[in-house]
Amino acid sequence: MNVGIVGLGYVGLPLAMEFADAGVNVVGIDVDAAKVASLTVGRSHIEDVPDARLATALPRCTFTTRIAELERVDAILICVPTPLNANREPELGPVLSATRAVAGVLRAGQTIVLESTTFPGTTREYLVPLLEESGLRAGVDFQLAFSPERVDPGRTDYTIRTTPKIVGGLTEACTARASAVYEHICEQVVPVSTPESAELAKLLENIFRSVNIALVNEMSMLTDRMGIDIWEVIDAASTKPFGFMRFEPGPGMGGHCLPVDPFYLTWRAREFDFATEFIELAGKVNAQMPYFCVEQIERALNDAYKPVRGSKILLLGASYKPGVGDLRGSPALAIIELLRARGADVRYHDPYVAELPSFGLRSVELADGIQDADVAAIVTAHPGVDHERVMRALPGSVDFRGTTRHMKRAVAQH
Ligand SMILES: NC(=O)c1ccc[n+]([C@@H]2O[C@H](COP(=O)([O-])OP(=O)(O)OC[C@H]3O[C@@H](n4cnc5c(N)ncnc54)[C@H](O)[C@@H]3O)[C@@H](O)[C@H]2O)c1
Repeated sequence: MNVGIVGLGYVGLPLAMEFADAGVNVVGIDVDAAKVASLTVGRSHIEDVPDARLATALPRCTFTTRIAELERVDAILICVPTPLNANREPELGPVLSATRAVAGVLRAGQTIVLESTTFPGTTREYLVPLLEESGLRAGVDFQLAFSPERVDPGRTDYTIRTTPKIVGGLTEACTARASAVYEHICEQVVPVSTPESAELAKLLENIFRSVNIALVNEMSMLTDRMGIDIWEVIDAASTKPFGFMRFEPGPGMGGHCLPVDPFYLTWRAREFDFATEFIELAGKVNAQMPYFCVEQIERALNDAYKPVRGSKILLLGASYKPGVGDLRGSPALAIIELLRARGADVRYHDPYVAELPSFGLRSVELADGIQDADVAAIVTAHPGVDHERVMRALPGSVDFRGTTRHMKRAVAQH
């Protein structure tokens, strides 16, 4: 089998690797010629795909910007971005242009699958008409399905192979054909009856996380006021073996998915005269968190008789999650902006993010950062960073991730 993958980012490239490992030939397409050029010589831009992994897959992979190469594949998986535009509405531009390009080379017998996260109705209402401009009919001449990508970059306990794959085709035959493609790389395929169910299942998963993170974030702001240790509360509640699921507070929600995807549904729901209030409320609470973080840093400085203006503040972790260098929507960026607006002298340490050009900052060595700071704040707790050392050296510092909570507890109990 030959598979074409359109969009070689966090989703598309690992998918290409899985197919290649399974003995499937892959044509990987991207509009970014620089990415294609570096992949072709074995340089990966995705942490989850080390160069050594890429090297073993390369003999089965063709990376190119030439969409015409898709003519020879059996299935085409579209994995392009689905961001929000300036008005926080779905920006389907990349999906539509990728689909148009595919329509230009589509041939009878091919299976097309959209993997990009989107609102229910996208596959049927947007992809079908564009693909049918080829003169071929969806569900008759070619098969079409939606199958959401559920990978969590940086995660090793659940992989593409071990995470069940939802597949919803336009027809039963479409579901069956698309499922057969994924059976090469996934242990379990979960068929659903329509693309809309598959589209909404993915959004439900992300909305569930967003709402629960907001709930625990709100709780953390309350416990801060009440003088209760939120981590102890969460640890205690988590001992319940049923009916409770652990979520942890943090500096806000980052990444490409959680701050964005739920609003795809909000937008779609308006067409049905329906307000998705949980989504809006969760977005509002999570968006407040960087302000709450800055307030905690201000308090830490205040306790040391220092103003924010002119103080040297060391942030630990700039990316939005541990173990990856992804800066998209990272709350650290909002925190830096807020602190700078108050006149702070901000520096950061992040082994995964060498520089933040928009702020003119480069990651400092941990020892230098500690030596030269009035206070530190753990924003994202990357593995391998000695956070306890930071807390010992700068005891008034704040930890938004709870990694050093045992140290605070030990002090409190003395
Ligand atoms: N990153 C994640 O953790 C994750 C998880 C699950 C689902 N998703 C969803 O998967 C989709 C892709 O996300 P991502 O994180 O891989 O994005 P990404 O930005 O990392 O990669 C997308 C790639 O598509 C390319 N591209 C854009 N337009 C194109 C076009 N018209 N033709 C060919 N290539 C094009 C870009 O150059 C880029 O390399 C999104 O809908 C996202 O919501 C992402």
